[in-house]
Order: sequence, then structure tokens, then C-alpha cells
Amino acid sequence: MIGIYLLIGAVTLLYVYLKWTFSYWDRKGFPSVGVSIPFGAMESVTKGKRSFGMAIYDMYQTAKEPVVGLYLTLRPALLIRDAQLAHDVLVKDFASFHDRGVYVDEKNDPMSASLFQMEGASWRNLRNKLTPSFTSGKLKAMFETSNSVGDKLIASMKAQLPEKGSKELEIKGFMATYAIDIIATTIFGLDIDSFADPNNEFQAISKKLNRKNFEDIIRGAASFLYPGLEKFFVRIGWKQEATERMRELSHRTVDLREKNNIVRKDLLQLLLQLRNQGKVNTDDSVWSAESSQNGVKSISKDLIAGQLFLFYVAGYETTASTISFTLYELTQNPEVMEKAKEDVRNAIEKNGGKLTYDAVSDMKYLEACVLETARKYPALPLLNRICTQDYPVPDSKLVIKKGTPIIISLIGMQRDAEYFPDPLRYQPERYLDENKDFNQAAYMPFGEGPRMCIGARMGKVNVKLAIAKILTNFDLEMRQEKREIEFGINGVPLMPKEGVPVRVSLKK
Ligand code: HEM
Repeated sequence: MIGIYLLIGAVTLLYVYLKWTFSYWDRKGFPSVGVSIPFGAMESVTKGKRSFGMAIYDMYQTAKEPVVGLYLTLRPALLIRDAQLAHDVLVKDFASFHDRGVYVDEKNDPMSASLFQMEGASWRNLRNKLTPSFTSGKLKAMFETSNSVGDKLIASMKAQLPEKGSKELEIKGFMATYAIDIIATTIFGLDIDSFADPNNEFQAISKKLNRKNFEDIIRGAASFLYPGLEKFFVRIGWKQEATERMRELSHRTVDLREKNNIVRKDLLQLLLQLRNQGKVNTDDSVWSAESSQNGVKSISKDLIAGQLFLFYVAGYETTASTISFTLYELTQNPEVMEKAKEDVRNAIEKNGGKLTYDAVSDMKYLEACVLETARKYPALPLLNRICTQDYPVPDSKLVIKKGTPIIISLIGMQRDAEYFPDPLRYQPERYLDENKDFNQAAYMPFGEGPRMCIGARMGKVNVKLAIAKILTNFDLEMRQEKREIEFGINGVPLMPKEGVPVRVSLKK
């Protein structure tokens, strides 16, 4: 009998606890959406129907108010739907939202101390030090390496095609290999060719990082939703093999470079300058990283490994998807395709018949295509921040409390007809017209404000380079009927559900 009373007591307590937790936004006076116990806005994710970004997109579409409360399982968070308010949070009122609030433990887990995760003054300090690594002068110097990866991409696509006629290629797979090699060579400074050797060490680690097993899902969710839990996992020594291997590879490369004084034009070299000279040299022609401070190291090998790992995570899927979605849209929009080809042709001609960094910079129409892809398919479909000091919502009586997670649905805003007329139409002209027909505050595919993407320029160059090479070497067949791509259910980046099929033939 006592057992039954205990059970009834426990069930009642749980019921009261859940009711209390899921009434948080009512009690704070905010409207709310997706109040479904016990997973809240994550219900479709836990059922394997939607990815995280798309579940938030559903919430964006269901709600009408500028700010709405939702529940990321048991954790209350605010979804900002109003473009101007989102802009204020990211830019004007950055002081109240300067962190992301995800897992970071600089002291005990230096690999977690990446620019994306770091907070407050540590983030600001590192961001200032890293910014000179991404200037156009530095990217221009790295361009030759990217260009040769692009040549390998073209050679491997050619090898798949018949001499005559066309063949459907799953283009996303090629772009993933291209993006991995771009990162391995221009960021990690490795000498690899994944088209020729798909089982090299970097690929092997990458495959491990991109699997979606139970362990990875739990760790990913903990890092984002319950940072304290992730801290606990790390403290009890639950290591993630792929992260450890990335760390070990990075340490090995740093040792090799430092011991042999090797100088290469890549991002690692600039991190070594920071380590040995205290700063990244602003002279774009200086790449040496010889010590100028009597052997004193400004940053540790672990901190370097943490940044390299982040650049991989931040640059790989985003680059591969943006290229693939652009190519797909070109095959659905013949006029856009023709203009893009002409733009590429003219820019190459203007630059002495060569596909140089300057030629890529001159491709203004192609740039507009990439911007339009980034609108319709934001590779990172949401932005997140944490409120770092109480914030009164302008023109309302509501106050966002310190510690509240903030989410901005990029795909929601960038596909909202209120901000972008005819949002599903692929229209690069939007960015070229003098009178832009959209709400510019709602356009932020690389984020906005002091914490916006540090690698945006690099990402765009590598995306444009791949597309320019493909348009120069191949004919892409137009699709007969238009079809919107469906998105997959895994991970945070926006990924196509079943690859991106494009019918390709050798240029006549
Ligand atoms: C098409 C390619 C890319 C897209 C669409 C993209 C998008 C984004 C977005 C939306 C954010 C969040 C910004 C915010 O919260 O305001 C971000 C952050 C970041 N991205 Fe990118 N990214 C791309 C390529 C890259 C590349 C190639 C790198 C590095 C080499 C990179 C490094 C970073 C870093 C370090 C951050 C965190 C910045 C900080 O917190 O200070 N991204 N990116």
C-alpha cells in the first residue's frame, strides 16, 4: 500500500513540477508557443521529424508576436521574430547579449575555448587578435591553395562523366570533399588530396565527427541546452574521440612547423605568428612565425587546436551546402544561370583569362547569387545569444531577464513574406537593385554585430571559386519542373535531405 502512495506522490510531484516549468512564460507575461510537455519546441526533433533549426522555424511560423517564449525541453528561451529587435540585440544592445551561453570551460577543457564558445573579455581579446587573419590581403595570399583544390574538384567530376551526353551527379558529396580539403589545406596547413585519397587522416576524423549516433546527439544537445551537464561529462573524463584526434593532429602539425621553421601561407601560420610574436602581422606579405619574444608563447597549442577545430566545424558544412544549393537554384532558373555564366566569363576575361582572386572579387552577379542562396538557405538556420544583463524590450512592458537564452530564426525571417517579397523566388537582383525590395534588418545569413561570422569573406570566396570553376568547365542541365529541396533532420546546419542531384555534361 505504501508503495502505491509513494508512486502517487512522485507522479503528483512530477506533474506539478512540469506544469510549473511549462508555465514560466505565462508567469513572466510573455506570449508562448509550442508548450508541449515534456519536450516543448523540441518535440518534432525528439520524434525524428525535424532538425533543430527547422523545429525553431516551425515555431517562428506558428507565432505572430515580435517576441515569444518557448521551451527547449525544460529550458525556457525567447524567440525573437521582429527583425528590428533582432538587429538591436545583435548590434545596438550587444552589451546585454554578448555571449552565446553554450558550453565552455577554458580552464579544464582548453579545446572548448573557441571563439564561438568563449565569453566576455576572453572572447573580445581573442576576436581582436584573430581579426587580422581574415583580411582580403591574407585571403588573396591563400587563394592559390584553394585554387588547386578547385582544380582537383573539377578533375574528379570530369572523371565521372561520359565523353558525350550528361549524367546526374550527387553534387553535395563533391562539394563536401572540396570543402574539407579547402579547410585541411588553407586552415590546418595539411598536404592532402581527398579526391585521390578519400581515406586520409583528416577525412577519417571528419567522418567520425559527422556521424549521428546517440553519444554525439547527447553531447551536442548538452553543449547547447545544458552547458552544466556537458561540463560534468568532461569532468568525469567522457572524451570525444574525434575531438581528441583533431587536437592531436593539430599539436603534431604545430610541432613540425616550429621545429623545422616551415613557412606556409595558411591560417595555422597566422596562429603561429600570434603564438610566437604576440600578434598576427598586419603586413600581408609577412608570413614568418619565428619567435620575437625569447621563446615566450602567447597562446597555447591547445588554444590553437581549439580554433582550428572550430574553423573546421564552422566552415565545412556551411561552404559545401551553400555551393550545392546555389548550383541547384541555377538549374531551376535559366535566366539567372545565363547571367551567372556571363559574369564569370567577363571577370575571367578582364583578369587576363585567369581565374584569380581579383577575378572572383569582380564576379558581382555571382556574389548576388551567393547572397540569395544564403538568404533562402541560411547554412546556419538560427543565431543564439544569452542575455547578459536585464533588458527592457523597447516599446513594451516586458523585461528579458539575465540568463535567458535568445534565439533568432534566420530561415524564419529570411523566408518571411513580410520582410522579403515572394520569399521562395530565387532572385539575386534583390541585392543589385538600388532600391532594395527587402527589409535589410532581416537579412543576416552571416549573423550581425561584433559576433558575426569572422570567416564570411573566406566562405564566400571559396563558394564563388567552386561555382565559377564548375560553370567554366561544365554545362548544367535545366530542371523541367521546379521543386523545393527538402531538409534533413540531423544536426544544426541546414542540410538537404537526400543530397543535391544535378545533371552535368562536359562543356561543348
Ligand atoms: C558560407 C559560409 C559560412 C556561413 C554561411 C557562416 C555563417 C555563420 C553564422 C550565421 C555565424 C553566427 C554569427 C552570429 O552569431 O552572429 C557564424 C559564426 C562564426 N563563423 Fe561562420 N559561416 C561561414 C563560413 C565560415 C568559415 C569559412 C569560417 C572560418 C574559417 C567561419 C568561422 C566562424 C566563426 C569563428 C564564428 C564565431 C564568431 C564569434 O563568435 O566571434 N565561418 N558563421
